[in-house]
Amino acid sequence: MIENTSLNPVSMKWDYELASAFHVFNQYTQRLEESYNQLQNRVKEIDKEMALANARLKEKVQELDSLTKYLNNLLSSIHSGVIAVNLQGEISTLNKAAVAILKLTLSDLMGKKVEEIFKNSDGTISLLLLALKKKKDYIDVERKIVTNQGVEKWIESSASLIKDANENTIGAVEVFRDLSEIRELEKRLRSADKLATIGAMAASIAHEIRNPLNGIEGFSALLLRDFDDLDPRKKLVNNIIHGAKNLNKTITELLVFARPLRMNLKKSRISEILDKTLFFVTEDIKQKGVQNVNIRKEYGCGMDGLTCDPDRLQQAFLNLCLNAIQAMPSGGDLIVSARSCMGKGFEGIQVGIRDTGIGIKKEDIHKIFDPFFTTKQEGTGLGLAMVNKIVDAHRGKISVESQENKGTVFYVHLPIHGHYEIDTFSSTWKNSEYLISQYL
Ligand SMILES: Nc1ncnc2c1ncn2[C@@H]1O[C@H](COP(=O)(O)OP(=O)(O)O)[C@@H](O)[C@H]1O
Ligand SMILES: [Mg+2]
Repeated sequence: MIENTSLNPVSMKWDYELASAFHVFNQYTQRLEESYNQLQNRVKEIDKEMALANARLKEKVQELDSLTKYLNNLLSSIHSGVIAVNLQGEISTLNKAAVAILKLTLSDLMGKKVEEIFKNSDGTISLLLLALKKKKDYIDVERKIVTNQGVEKWIESSASLIKDANENTIGAVEVFRDLSEIRELEKRLRSADKLATIGAMAASIAHEIRNPLNGIEGFSALLLRDFDDLDPRKKLVNNIIHGAKNLNKTITELLVFARPLRMNLKKSRISEILDKTLFFVTEDIKQKGVQNVNIRKEYGCGMDGLTCDPDRLQQAFLNLCLNAIQAMPSGGDLIVSARSCMGKGFEGIQVGIRDTGIGIKKEDIHKIFDPFFTTKQEGTGLGLAMVNKIVDAHRGKISVESQENKGTVFYVHLPIHGHYEIDTFSSTWKNSEYLISQYL
């Protein structure tokens, strides 16, 4: 017997439901597949967009990087100092020139308060902080500052506020330049003019004084012959003669100083010039009965080819040595040294004259080269002025270091191939370039 299952209504319903379930399943699968494909496409698109955005970002970063480098290069290649601070007055930018002008050491300057780095020497508020406080810019303000290392400088600055894109102040920047050298030169020029006038006047007055002074000295000497040795008036007349001699010495020095320097140039050996000088120094010591002065020579080698006026240099070294001896009334060491030295574009000789004497007071050290400055009872104050004039005529430089009660050293730097000047009084002072080194 054959059983016709297909015609069984239960079975038919089952088949139909299964088929529609498959159909629905297929539909969902298809839709899922479509969505999956769409998603995949979207992901690809997003990937592309992201790669593009990344490339653009990279470009921007590179642009920003080269802009920063460019600005940094710009900052470090300008000769003016640049310092920027935030609203708290803390340093956020500082260029190479600022570090050099303020003689700072670079370590840990970022984030430091500006007033820890340098202050106005008169104690007023720093220009950057003033700009922040008053919310305004300042242009070409000149003032004296003192750095945290104790260095004093004349600077000229402009300070401006730094704003963000919304015009909010976020800090201030100061651009400044060092005026110290210019101010120093101006000061020297003023004093050079003054000195030239005083010198010329003094020289003409000296001529007027000399004749009567010689008369006083001569007649006093005649008068002296009229008194016998026990006469108390003899001492008084001797005082007159001593005074007249001293005055004559001052006048002679003044005239020599005021006279134009005639240079007689020769190829010379510095050791010979110094030896001759020391011969006169030894004679002076013997004559004055100075005790306990040890003279030491420290000559290096290779210093033969100096073109100079040996007599003038000898005169300069003698003045320096005599000052050294006078600074050691109870004895000490006089050390005369010479060595060749090479610097940036400088080939020359450095002569040192060192003593272990009383030293120079801190407040006097800037005046010692001024004509007529003396701390000695019978000093003329023209010795160092003359030394300066001679060194200057050789296009040299003189510097001094001193410590009270320890001693003093003068260094004379002479270029081997200097340019020389058959000069006049005033040009000497205008060109003079002595340098007072930091107090020891
Ligand atoms: N070696 C030294 N030690 C101490 N003081 C010095 C020395 N050399 C120079 N001075 C100071 O410089 C001043 C000026 O020196 P100078 O021009 O030679 O004049 P003078 O010797 O006539 O006083 C001296 O009076 C002295 O105070
Ligand atoms: Mg002297």
